[in-house]
Amino acid sequence: MAEFDLEQTDRLMMTTKQVRKRLDLTRAIPIDVVLRCIDVASRAPIGGNMQINRWLLVDDPDIKQGLAECYRAMGTDYLNAGVEQVKAAGSDSVQKRVVESSVYLLDHLHEVPMMIIPIRMGRPDNTTFGQATFWGSVTPGVWSLQMALRSRGIGTAWTTLHLYEEQRACTLLGLPDDVTQIALLPAAFYSGDGFSPSARRPAHEITYLNSWRQPVS
Ligand SMILES: Cc1cc2nc3c(=O)[nH]c(=O)nc-3n(C[C@H](O)[C@H](O)[C@H](O)COP(=O)(O)O)c2cc1C
Repeated sequence: MAEFDLEQTDRLMMTTKQVRKRLDLTRAIPIDVVLRCIDVASRAPIGGNMQINRWLLVDDPDIKQGLAECYRAMGTDYLNAGVEQVKAAGSDSVQKRVVESSVYLLDHLHEVPMMIIPIRMGRPDNTTFGQATFWGSVTPGVWSLQMALRSRGIGTAWTTLHLYEEQRACTLLGLPDDVTQIALLPAAFYSGDGFSPSARRPAHEITYLNSWRQPVS
């Protein structure tokens, strides 16, 4: 017998969407809830069992404004290019919705009640092993955090655009040179009912058996 209600755990994982539009910008997020979620997320795998991941929570309006400016510095051009691409290609509605919601977030980023910045101490080296170990030791925890928050009614979106202005963001956050920001998660209670699963290709199309491109069945 399964230890968990699989319908519920599968639904949590499949519907933890990147929330950019349905954010309640008026409701503060209790820090103790976020701390509990970080305790949960810290159980994710970490290479060499080295506990060198950190979390920076930002609710100061001036710092949020500064980080939103970092995000917009590159994000505005980047997303405008996306808007043009969607127009030119007459892209499907999924891509159109992603671009629209990304533009919405760009405009409202400074208004979110909290920004969560996962950090890993150190800098990645250029070897495949070094990169895989560095990012692989921190990104599972970020995803766990997104799910833990989502199950408590708090939506987040994984974003990285502010890192085009990494140095400016480091100065705003008082970060030393020898730590690495992994992402910037705007966080807010989400409005409306739940989410439907993200559109993704089915497993049999993206999974191989024993050898590259050998289908599973
Ligand atoms: C590494 C990474 C960086 C991302 N950076 C951004 C970003 O800067 N801004 C943004 O709006 N979304 C960003 N996203 C979110 C993706 O665009 C998102 O996964 C996509 O919209 C699909 O949404 P879904 O997972 O809810 O289906 C990022 C996602 C990842 C994994």
